[in-house]
Amino acid sequence: MTPARLLFVNHVSSMSGAEFVLAQVAQAFPGASAFLFEQGPLLAALEAHGLKGIVAKNGGGLAGIKRDKSLVRALPALAKLAGLVREIAGAARAHDVLYANSQKAFLLTALAATIVRRPLVWHLHDILNPEHFGGMQRRLQIGLANRVATRVVVPSRACADAFVEAGGRPDIVVVVPNGVSPPQAAPRPTREALGLPEGPLVGVFSRLAHWKGQHVLLKALHETPGIGAIVVGSALFGEEAYERQLRAMVTELGLGDRVTFLGQRNDVMRLMSAVDCVVHPSTLAEPFGLTLVEAMMARTSVVATDAGAAREILDDGLAGQLVTPGDAGSLAVALKAFFAAPQDFAQQRGHAALRAAERYSADRMRGDIRALVEQLAAGRSG
Ligand code: GLC
Repeated sequence: MTPARLLFVNHVSSMSGAEFVLAQVAQAFPGASAFLFEQGPLLAALEAHGLKGIVAKNGGGLAGIKRDKSLVRALPALAKLAGLVREIAGAARAHDVLYANSQKAFLLTALAATIVRRPLVWHLHDILNPEHFGGMQRRLQIGLANRVATRVVVPSRACADAFVEAGGRPDIVVVVPNGVSPPQAAPRPTREALGLPEGPLVGVFSRLAHWKGQHVLLKALHETPGIGAIVVGSALFGEEAYERQLRAMVTELGLGDRVTFLGQRNDVMRLMSAVDCVVHPSTLAEPFGLTLVEAMMARTSVVATDAGAAREILDDGLAGQLVTPGDAGSLAVALKAFFAAPQDFAQQRGHAALRAAERYSADRMRGDIRALVEQLAAGRSG
């Protein structure tokens, strides 16, 4: 059987969680194409994996529309959107299966799919619940998914449940947990080599966004003297005001000598293995949380808020501590417990590392997605 000709579609080309996953998935499809609304690092990563990149002629500026306001703000850009749908449909004709990786990509690819009649997979990286999305957006996405998507791939049970709760068809949802490439076997880097301070040190790793909860960690640090933190990640989608707020908080809370902002980094696993504990402080339900798995693979202890997928990834708390979302006090208690006896958490770290290797490897994820795509392509030709 000739392999399915697959067309990936994603709106942004900057690297956030969903794009990291796409770059991993794409490695299973070296002859595939990727239609992106803009140039950028994702395009380069996909081309490096042997995919053919196609950049939209009509994509300019659309990637920047904020997700909660997208529909209203997109209205003046309707002509552009129609042009994009035509472009995606044009590209789709040379492919067997379409694969949309973001909400905006899904919206437009769904319209294109109805024109060219191709099976469409939507890899949904979000929790479609009211705390994350407005009613109009949820109704539109779910309505389109129910009518047009052949499968909706989600990374967690939490995402699947939210999709169904919002009215999505249970028969089209498939849970394919995200996967991460295990780190190279190498000695733990020293703090000195990485330019990190000595002493009790935690790290938070995600883009800077209010719901990712970095501010809650800063408040918790205020209650836990002696603990330092590195904040890794940058403001990607118009969240610069939040970054300024975080920096102001550091000054106000007198944390200047304990908190270091490192920006976006490519050596996340090395940094993770050099801190004592990775904190995942999201205030809203997390669709997945790649950081959790990366920390588990780096054999570093985890403290995460109990919202969304964290509980299933951390095996109900057996693979990491779970704390109350948005509650700095609860986080501070967990950090104090950890630093009082880090050696007591060794067994938890071992369990977490095994669990991550068994369930959350990139190879397993690629295998799952490849099987799904081949099945859809076979259905089309048969
Ligand atoms: C989004 C989600 C995050 C998930 C990632 C990959 O960024 O917010 O939870 O890990 O997508 O699926």
